[in-house]
Amino acid sequence: MKVAVLGAAGGIGQALSLLLKTGLPAGSELSLYDVAPVVPGVAVDLSHIPTDVKVAGFGADALDQALTGCDIVLIPAGMPRKPGMDRADLFNVNAGIIKTLAEGIVANCPKALVGIITNPVNGTVPIVAEVFKKAGTYDAKRVFGITTLDVIRSEAFVAELKGVDVATVKVPVIGGHSGTTILPLLSQVEGVTFTDEEVAALTPRIQNAGTEVVNAKAGGGSATLSMGAAAARFCMSLVKGLQGEDVVDYAYVAVEGGDAAYFAHPVRLGKNGVEEILAYGELSAFEEQAKNDMLDTLKKDIQEGVDFINA
Ligand code: NAD
Ligand code: LMR
Repeated sequence: MKVAVLGAAGGIGQALSLLLKTGLPAGSELSLYDVAPVVPGVAVDLSHIPTDVKVAGFGADALDQALTGCDIVLIPAGMPRKPGMDRADLFNVNAGIIKTLAEGIVANCPKALVGIITNPVNGTVPIVAEVFKKAGTYDAKRVFGITTLDVIRSEAFVAELKGVDVATVKVPVIGGHSGTTILPLLSQVEGVTFTDEEVAALTPRIQNAGTEVVNAKAGGGSATLSMGAAAARFCMSLVKGLQGEDVVDYAYVAVEGGDAAYFAHPVRLGKNGVEEILAYGELSAFEEQAKNDMLDTLKKDIQEGVDFINA
């Protein structure tokens, strides 16, 4: 298994690379790429951890070498938010970065499974898809927006609120990855019930959890450690799928005839990426309303990404 992390010297990139160095199956290779000159040092640092995962670092002019032969590419490259910003404010800076990296994937590992972390995820995923479409290499089954941070936050907050073992909590989260487009399905959490007041308080807490971190870091960036953990968890799902295991996880994927062109769903993963997009099941009246209310925003975010490549 060869996994590339693009933006590997950043806050997420370093945490994620550490977890992959210690968590990927024996015999894997980890390819770390960043435009920051520290990236070879990050690779040397990680290489001193005694696991059977080979690490190599690649600087600004070595994107092609970093991507050659990769099975999975994870992208946390780009600028994070500061207090007062929305994720959409990152579009102008991060769209160009994502386009360049997607072109590198087309040229060097067009069959790789690609997990996009860079914000705004609602728009960066369509950018990658449109670059692949233009190159004739697009396969909707292989492109993922990583929304696992919304899932793990939901698990943590539900366990905390209800005093249950966090290892047993599963919370479906659908939609996109910003504000009201993040929709936790609290009505589907098994073994736990919520009052209307709890749903009305917990839903926006999950939706605004990114801003909670941004404000707490007070200008020092956004979530990095929890995102590193989330991306590593999602990567392990992709790895298991590639190894032939039957695994279901949540991700922001292209959905034919769905609520929007891209929407986070439960997906069955396998050797080709998405084997099946699963239905998200019955929604409560609160969730149905929240879903309908967010769709205009999500569709606008998606169109911005599509237009960036095609306009
Ligand atoms: P960071 O500034 O710590 O790291 C970003 C890294 O990207 C830096 O090392 C930088 O050198 C690198 N980079 C910039 N341009 C590049 C390019 N063209 N090629 C390769 N690398 C490049 O930021 P961070 O905190 O790690 O966040 C990274 C991104 O992830 C941000 O856009 C942030 O909003 C997003 N994010 C997404 C989620 C999510 O749930 N999807 C969660 C947290 C953060
Ligand atoms: C998050 O949810 O923590 C990330 O999308 C980063 C951010 O800007 O909130």
